[in-house]
Amino acid sequence: MNIENKARKFYDCFNKVKRLRKYDHPVVKAHVIDKINFIKENIELSKTTKVLEVGAGNGYFSHYLEDSCDLLATDVNKETLTLNPTKNKKVCDVNKLPFKNNSFDVVTSFDILHHVNNPERAVKEITRVSKKYVVLVEPNGDNIIQRAIFLPVPREWGINRFTTKYFKNIIKKNRLKILEFEHIGRLFTPNMPLPYAFIKKMPYSKSSQLNFHNIAICVKERAFDRKSKEQDL
Ligand SMILES: C[S@@+](CC[C@H](N)C(=O)[O-])C[C@H]1O[C@@H](n2cnc3c(N)ncnc32)[C@H](O)[C@@H]1O
Repeated sequence: MNIENKARKFYDCFNKVKRLRKYDHPVVKAHVIDKINFIKENIELSKTTKVLEVGAGNGYFSHYLEDSCDLLATDVNKETLTLNPTKNKKVCDVNKLPFKNNSFDVVTSFDILHHVNNPERAVKEITRVSKKYVVLVEPNGDNIIQRAIFLPVPREWGINRFTTKYFKNIIKKNRLKILEFEHIGRLFTPNMPLPYAFIKKMPYSKSSQLNFHNIAICVKERAFDRKSKEQDL
C-alpha cells in the first residue's frame, strides 16, 4: 500500500478521527498557535484576505485562522471535514483542486504533503490556485528523534523524506520564493497522550534543529517580481 493510501485509510475511518482531541483542547492550541502567529507576523491578513486551506482535516488550524481571514477549509475526506468547525468547507483533493488559477490570496497546507504520493505535484496545484502566498508546514524530517518516534507508525513514514533539503527543493522547483523558513514547535503531536501541564514545561529553543516542524512562507516568483518592479518605479 502506498503512502497516500495508508494515510487515507486512517483518516477515512470517522470513528478513529472522532476520538482525536478537539481543536479547542489546550494541547492542540499549543501545537497550532506558534505557527499561526508566525504566519500573521509575515503575512498581513484581514477579513477580506481569501485563504484556502488544503487537507484541513478536523480543523486544528482552521479554528485559529478563521477569525483573521476569509477562510475556505478543504479536505479529501468528507467525514473528517464534518468535524471541522469552519463555516466554509469543501471536499476536494489537493492533487486536483476545483478552483481557477490565482483564486486565493494565500493557500496553506499543514501536515498533508508527507501523506501524498507526489508532494511536488501537490505543491504545483497549491501554487496554481494561489495569487500570491503559499504557506507550507511539514514535519522536520532531519530530526532523528522524530523519525524514531514514528518508526512504528507506517502511515507517517512520509516524514523521512521531508528533510529540509527535500522540502526547499520542491518549493523552488515550483517557482516559489521562500520569504521565511524556520524549524518550529516543540516535539509533540496534538494527540500524543501527554498532559498540557507537561507540554508547557518542555524546553523550547527557537529555530532549533530538534523542533518538530518546518514552516515555509513562500511567495509566487511572478507576484514577487511584479512587486519588486513596482518598487523600482
Ligand atoms: C495529518 S492530517 C492534518 C490535518 C490538518 N491539516 C492539521 O494539521 O490538523 C492530514 C490530512 O490530510 C488529508 N489528506 C490526505 N491526502 C489528501 C489529499 N490528496 N487531498 C486533500 N487532503 C488530503 C487527510 O484527510 C487529513 O485530514
